[in-house]
Amino acid sequence: MPSAVDTDSWKQQLKGARADVEALIRATHANPILIRLAWHDSGTFDENIKQAWPKPGGATASIRFNPEIGHGANAGLQAALDLVEPVKQKYPLVSYADLYQMASAIGVEIAGGPAIPLRYGRVDVESPEDCAPEGRLPSAGHPFSDGSKTPADHLRKIFYRMGLNDKDIVALSGAHTLGRSRPERSGWGKEETKYTTAPNNPPGSAPGGQSWTANWLTFDNSYFVEVKAKRDADLLILPTDAAVFEDEGFRQYAEKYAEDQDAFFKDYVESHLKLSELGSKFTEGTKVTLE
Ligand code: HEM
Repeated sequence: MPSAVDTDSWKQQLKGARADVEALIRATHANPILIRLAWHDSGTFDENIKQAWPKPGGATASIRFNPEIGHGANAGLQAALDLVEPVKQKYPLVSYADLYQMASAIGVEIAGGPAIPLRYGRVDVESPEDCAPEGRLPSAGHPFSDGSKTPADHLRKIFYRMGLNDKDIVALSGAHTLGRSRPERSGWGKEETKYTTAPNNPPGSAPGGQSWTANWLTFDNSYFVEVKAKRDADLLILPTDAAVFEDEGFRQYAEKYAEDQDAFFKDYVESHLKLSELGSKFTEGTKVTLE
């Protein structure tokens, strides 16, 4: 946590971390899993919990502790924690909560997505006792533990609890333009497809899994185009993805994003910024962007 005296060193370290995370992502193509890590840290936020921070959950870096990292929804994310740990060791003034959100925002940008003007200064929780309880993140399909009858109901229950709205749900679902699902992690997706094996698997990235899009290391609006078209059995459509076109309230946004990538990028930035600050406590005098 930076004090007034060491704000300059903190900012220097943030910039150093940013350069190192960028190099890490270019070398490993790990942006998808890093984006998922940041979202699963934030996505536990419950705006109905009125107790003091960090009880409502959110982007507090509680995901780095057990039991939270061991929750079913977080299967596979230990690899993402391990990837960024050396950056934290090198730049100790940068909080874990900031580092996870930073890696996600850089991951979007490096993949060709919009620049996300993230704000920094999040405080970390310091103990496993501050982990969020299991069950706050969405399921991709039936059975829904919250008793929801449809994927759209479930998405609304989960995202409204975070204080987010229909537009946020659809825009953020568009992050599935990147990455893959692996049956051994989430239980969803195929073990491999033509897009995730040689010669189509991007050089340097681990093979396997099922992607939502053909170019799953490129951030664009192809998720909406493909979910709408349902034209390729090698591309994944989770029940919750299908809902963005099936549900009347969601469809207006999904249709717009399938037609207009600039509109998607504009809304995505807004929603991603909200997501990145859910439940976060900022050290006084911080909440700054990096130029
Ligand atoms: C709307 C509700 C959501 C559901 C039900 C959902 C579900 C899933 C599932 C089942 C996977 C596969 C995980 C695996 O097997 O490793 C996945 C991956 C992913 N999710 Fe989501 N997700 C949702 C929202 C989001 C949001 C809001 C973001 C980010 C803003 C996001 C970003 C990602 C990314 C980038 C991956 C790929 C990870 C990788 O390749 O390792 N998802 N999601």
